[in-house]
Amino acid sequence: MKQSLVTIANLSKEKIMYLLRMAEEFEKRPDRKILDGKIVATLFFEPSTRTRLSFETAANRLGAKVIGFTDPKVTSSTKGETLKDTIMMVSNYADVIVMRHYLEGAARYASEVSPVPIVNAGDGANQHPSQTMLDLYSIYKTQKTLENLNIYLIGDLKYGRTVHSLLMAMRHFNPTFHFISPRELSMPEEYKIYCQEHHINYVEHENFNEEVISHADILYITRVQRERFTDLMEYERVKDIYILKASMLKSARENMKILHPLPRVNEISYDVDDDPHAYYFEQARNGLFAREAIICDVLGITLEDIINQ
Ligand code: CP
Repeated sequence: MKQSLVTIANLSKEKIMYLLRMAEEFEKRPDRKILDGKIVATLFFEPSTRTRLSFETAANRLGAKVIGFTDPKVTSSTKGETLKDTIMMVSNYADVIVMRHYLEGAARYASEVSPVPIVNAGDGANQHPSQTMLDLYSIYKTQKTLENLNIYLIGDLKYGRTVHSLLMAMRHFNPTFHFISPRELSMPEEYKIYCQEHHINYVEHENFNEEVISHADILYITRVQRERFTDLMEYERVKDIYILKASMLKSARENMKILHPLPRVNEISYDVDDDPHAYYFEQARNGLFAREAIICDVLGITLEDIINQ
């Protein structure tokens, strides 16, 4: 049965834990030719390094073939072809479509018109569910649980789609969120309402210092999303407002890990990279296993199939 992954909000706690189990299996053995004969299309209407390459690596390691584009300018969308027609065409050729698009809601729309599963690889400032699966996997691996954690979201909480998806996924696990951002980039009202409706604890700060960090299990740092600003003067004013330095980690909890969806610009200084709390490069590596799980799941391949393969 066709089942797209458009938003993390649709996934139950059981489904999330099931996908994490699948990711664990793929981490044990990433090369399994379980998608032999399948074709995965990657349609990237916006730039990407990690998401596209890890999805394509996942498809290749599972034995599928990959088609797609990284620049919509080389496609017939420049001649006026609509997203609907593009999706209809690609679904003639591929078994699953992984799509990143600059418009919020584009993945939902694609899933409604597509006869094959759509995986949302990021739609505007809205959602990035596959990133959330690898974030959850990273949190689970490092904390040995997803329950009752103090999670600090820092930076651009307005436009950062990864924090929006993470917040929704964590509703099952009784987190306490700390939203740390300048007022201009604060968590949008709709997500605060979501927290209230789902009994998610949150507090908002503007301070980011050693004392604040000392209470965190997870520091989730985000880049200020230059591409979403209409006023670049505004971007210049806020872009360097929070910069994590190694000297700020002296009182951090032993279990605390620093996550970042990457790319980093200036918000984590390079002296943090060698600190044992830094986990962002391993986090990106976990993307391969999480995305192997997602591709299999949307194609109806079960954990049992994977274990028995
Ligand atoms: N984290 C993330 O989405 O990175 P890319 O933009 O490089 O895919």
